[in-house]
Amino acid sequence: MARPQATPARTRWDAVIFDAYGTLFDVHSVMSAAEQMFPGQGEALSRLWRTKQLEYSWLRAMSGRYKPFWEITRDALRFSAARLGLGLDEAAEGRLMGQYASLSAFPENLDVLRALHAGGLALGILSNGNRDMIEVSIRSAGMNGLFAHVLSSEQVGTFKTMSAVYDLVPQALGCPAERVLFVSSNGWDAIAARWYGFTSFWINRDGAPLDVLDTEPNFVGARLNDVAAIALNTHQS
Ligand code: LAC
Repeated sequence: MARPQATPARTRWDAVIFDAYGTLFDVHSVMSAAEQMFPGQGEALSRLWRTKQLEYSWLRAMSGRYKPFWEITRDALRFSAARLGLGLDEAAEGRLMGQYASLSAFPENLDVLRALHAGGLALGILSNGNRDMIEVSIRSAGMNGLFAHVLSSEQVGTFKTMSAVYDLVPQALGCPAERVLFVSSNGWDAIAARWYGFTSFWINRDGAPLDVLDTEPNFVGARLNDVAAIALNTHQS
């Protein structure tokens, strides 16, 4: 069950906006293909791949060196394979990138999104992913038609946590940031979203410790169902 954090809950939101990778789509669903290809190294490859992908996004954002997230994802894969001493030929790279294009959604997500949508909430995505990449992921997860807003950092040529990326939400919705419930499984994203002014909800699927950044998300839950409990109850009040 979601626990309210330091700030009292908003009673109502104009929209619920989701992070994509790690939140809606399970970036580690590449692990079994990676394990088949590189026995004993699938988990290490998947974890390093994600870590480097994020690191490259932060470095490029800080230094004004934007490159689409899909390309950063491939760069991170190449580095990670080299770091682990894995022979990543063109076919292996193509197969793993293909997996990334059709990541599995977490099991509860589709039902929760449908319930929120049926409850009358406007739903959206705000992701580092470039637009094509997000659209393919939405389609392959069967989430078509659920999102009124699909916002990509590609529109501003930088990455989270730059405020230009978070700005896309109030600009698209025409509402103040605090009336947006921003949902992310990435703790750093949930914290940065609160710094920005959103009401933020961290989905802490693995029971991870909170990043020590002097700020807590407004809400913490373990699964997307916890968002529905908060968003639907309060939406109708
Ligand atoms: C995204 C990154 C954080 O979807 O995975 O924005």
